[in-house]
Amino acid sequence: MPLSEAALAECHELIARYPTAKCALLQILWVAQREYGSINQDVMREVAELLRIRPVEVADVVSFYFMYRKQPMGTYTISVCDTLSCALLGAFNLIDYLEGKLGIKCGQTTPDGRISLEAAECLGACSDAPVLTVDFYHQLKVTPEKIDELLARMERGEEIGQEMRPPEWWETPTGWPTTPMPDGQNPNPQPNQPTQVPK
Ligand code: FES
Repeated sequence: MPLSEAALAECHELIARYPTAKCALLQILWVAQREYGSINQDVMREVAELLRIRPVEVADVVSFYFMYRKQPMGTYTISVCDTLSCALLGAFNLIDYLEGKLGIKCGQTTPDGRISLEAAECLGACSDAPVLTVDFYHQLKVTPEKIDELLARMERGEEIGQEMRPPEWWETPTGWPTTPMPDGQNPNPQPNQPTQVPK
């Protein structure tokens, strides 16, 4: 099943921002994942064809980043950081708590397909450990009470994310949070707009 016309148009718009099509690979994969739900070998081949690169180059990138899903995930994906800072502050207790609440093991999806639970490497917010993300949006200083609140919202089918993002974070057009840039620098330069180099 090829990408939809809207997704293809978005891909071409993304490609036009870069000097070579290959530079848009990360963002194109994000679009493809949004369309298909995960990135299997057929999707990798389609992306490679679109960017005129070898499928193995796409596979290299997909296998490196856990954010690119190799199999379909639930409607919501909860990723609990179990790296050092979070582990010291109770990440494994939180995983146990979530497993008990959801009736699944880490790495599984609830039978109704609603929630996937996984462990993740450092999520880059160690000073606010323990940390988890829901669909890549951070929840900081997590407690069982916060988890209960999140699960109740998922039960109601609410979208979770926007309010969880630290306010100082910027967002790309594809919804991917990025590190803040110093004043006057655009993290997403448009075509023909030179990137400002810090002095
Ligand atoms: S160790 Fe958990 S966010 Fe860094």
